[in-house]
Amino acid sequence: MKEIVLSGIRSTGHLHLGNYFGALRNFITMQAEHRCYFFIADLHSLTTHPKPDDFHGNVHRVLTEYLAAGLDPEMATIFVQSDIPEVAELYVLLNMIAYKGELERTASFKDKVRKQEDNVNAGLLTYPVLMAADILIHRPAKVPVGKDQEQHLEITRTLARRFNRLYDTDVFPEPTAFNFGSELVKIPGLDGAGKMGKSEGNGIFLADDEKTIHKKVMRAVTDSGPTAPNSEMPDPIKNIFTLLQVVSAPDVVAHFRAAYNNCTIRYGDLKKQLAEDICKVTLPIRARIQEIGADAGYLRKVTQRGAAQARESAQATLKEVRKAVGIREF
Ligand code: TRP
Repeated sequence: MKEIVLSGIRSTGHLHLGNYFGALRNFITMQAEHRCYFFIADLHSLTTHPKPDDFHGNVHRVLTEYLAAGLDPEMATIFVQSDIPEVAELYVLLNMIAYKGELERTASFKDKVRKQEDNVNAGLLTYPVLMAADILIHRPAKVPVGKDQEQHLEITRTLARRFNRLYDTDVFPEPTAFNFGSELVKIPGLDGAGKMGKSEGNGIFLADDEKTIHKKVMRAVTDSGPTAPNSEMPDPIKNIFTLLQVVSAPDVVAHFRAAYNNCTIRYGDLKKQLAEDICKVTLPIRARIQEIGADAGYLRKVTQRGAAQARESAQATLKEVRKAVGIREF
């Protein structure tokens, strides 16, 4: 059965390999199977990045990278949050039923209070309310969220339930998390520690050029090599093999595994192979990023069409919401 699936995308950062083999893979599968809404959450970025200079540039980059990596405006509704004024109206209405106490208890808020104590704005406090408005305005069944967003989705569910009860309506279904976590390969970073992220020395971006990718991979953390046959791999080496397994052919992986097991492996060769195979995946995407990024007409067409579709859905919801709240015309 086709379900409505919605996901918001942060308008900061660059898409890296971990995103590509993680959330993005799922978006690409979902857009073919469900009725999907994907949007760039640019308003949310104002809670932490209040500078107008790079506001548009960030949206432009993130949208371009997701389109280049495979989000398809022919299949999904792809739009920019700030193009949908209906979201702002629903945000106002939901703020009336969100309690200060529950918002103050949100982990992301407490974290931000610590990180930017000189800018604890009301937008930070009500970040989950804006997110609830993003979601509920399209009345989706499913919202794909990572671990860090689970609490926000829980607040969304609470607000949906509370709204329905207070205004005696059933306008909002309670969305559930689209959990793809368990089947996913966790893409490790290059620093020998945890998963791939955006930090320096850890991540490979889809927009990186060939030279940068080689340089990053050659610098990946390794050790001095196996000292006994068939010994267990320490984490940094395991990580390199995990990456290899994702981007390289099975015989290539088998070759290096055998070399590790009989202690003839040369990490330089391993890394060179890994860098080449990563490039095979990412360089075509990088080329599309450059092509799409330079095509203002295409980006305008995509965002205008996405906004029109999203606003139609949003207006239908808002009509019922206004009625429930008691807003009427004379
Ligand atoms: N807060 C999400 C993040 O930081 C982005 C987001 C905003 C979102 N609105 C959303 C995600 C609605 C899912 C649904 O990743």
